Amino acid sequence: MNDTNQRDSFTSKFGAIAAIAGSAIGLGNIWRFPYITGENGGGAFLLIYVLFILLIGITVMTSEFVIGRSAQKNPYGAFRLLAPGKPWYLIGIMGVLAAFFILSFYTTVSGWTLEYVYQALSGNLTGKDNSQLTEMFTEFLNHPWRPYLWFLIFMGFTAVIIILGVKNGIERYAKILMPFLLVLLLMLCIRALTLKGSGAGLRFLFHPDLSKITPKAILEALGQGFFSLSIGMGTLITYGSYIRKKDNLAETAFYVSISDTFVAVIAGIAIFPALFALGGQPASGQGLMFIVLPEVFQRIPFGNLFALVFFILLAIAALTSTISVLEVIVAFLVEEIKMARKKATIIAASSVSVLGLLTVASMGKLSGLTLFGKNIFGILEYLTANIMLPIGGLFIVLFIGWFHKKSLTKLEMTNNGTIRSRYFPVYIFLVRWIAPVAITAVFLYSLGIIKF
Ligand code: PFF
Repeated sequence: MNDTNQRDSFTSKFGAIAAIAGSAIGLGNIWRFPYITGENGGGAFLLIYVLFILLIGITVMTSEFVIGRSAQKNPYGAFRLLAPGKPWYLIGIMGVLAAFFILSFYTTVSGWTLEYVYQALSGNLTGKDNSQLTEMFTEFLNHPWRPYLWFLIFMGFTAVIIILGVKNGIERYAKILMPFLLVLLLMLCIRALTLKGSGAGLRFLFHPDLSKITPKAILEALGQGFFSLSIGMGTLITYGSYIRKKDNLAETAFYVSISDTFVAVIAGIAIFPALFALGGQPASGQGLMFIVLPEVFQRIPFGNLFALVFFILLAIAALTSTISVLEVIVAFLVEEIKMARKKATIIAASSVSVLGLLTVASMGKLSGLTLFGKNIFGILEYLTANIMLPIGGLFIVLFIGWFHKKSLTKLEMTNNGTIRSRYFPVYIFLVRWIAPVAITAVFLYSLGIIKF
């Protein structure tokens, strides 16, 4: 795959699924899913989450693929081509803005993974219980310069990779390495499940307590679904443009979404049973993974070495995501504003860094600066995952369901009539009715405008 004007494509059906899953799977699954699930009561949240992935997530993802593969362009350019003279391109612009905000907090957390690589190297992750690890995490967030330094290193690294044009090389290595991350996660699951008292954690994750379903939990489930699948901001429109004309779009979206959900659940199984067995609170916020997993590693032979490898691999998984999000901004500046690539990358990375350093500070020294009870980090997370991405997704399904000609959608979904798409009528029903109505209902419900 390359990213010049001459468009390449993925080389196989499996290659496309692996590359797109690689971009979707990241900190969203391993860091964010467990902590959001922990804050929203566990099993019932998971149930709604899975329901949203199946009914809304796969539908939005398929729609992004349809748009991307028919237009062969970036999100903004795609809407300009498919709907000339109409304001649908604003979805592309909102996507660029969302990318800007997401990068600020995503790179912050990516920086934390570097801190934990460093701590594993110094041997500081051993011999600590839950409260000591919690203290260590909080102390780090309040350190006068370390979190800022890790942020800048991570951002700089992301920018250098884009400037040097070695993005594809890095992604190739990442693809080889990611299965090892999964193996480590599975190992953590086994260790967590064999701890005494782990059953309560499994119960927390899988037993739906329906009284925990609140308007907030429902909105968070929707937002986490969008964030985890990388949908609603057009990233997958670009990926869709690389899918070969003979591959099945709905099937690709299905497999990517299932793999992404699988990894999130595996991360949940590594964390909650251990948390309940070793002591700690599910609602520990953004530090959850960084506090619980080192405790599990301590209970594995050569645990410190595994912890080191784990955080390195996690940093690489995060890197492929920061690259793809920064690329959204750079591609827009290069293709639409006609800026030189290097200049665009430097401008994008430096402006993200200004907001990003404030985001880092908001987890430490600036934590008192809040709006609606949220610090800057929390505001950016909430605004992107729970609002911007679902709104982007809503307009994407409205575009395909009600604006784009159904016959053209059908041609794209059936590869010009060469494959039978048994699911086409189902997809049309989902994209016209279920997805838009469900997203709107979640918004109205969480605002308290409608009640069930
Ligand atoms: N889906 C990624 C994750 O779960 O870590 C985060 C992400 C990447 C969101 C790319 C949005 C995006 F465009």
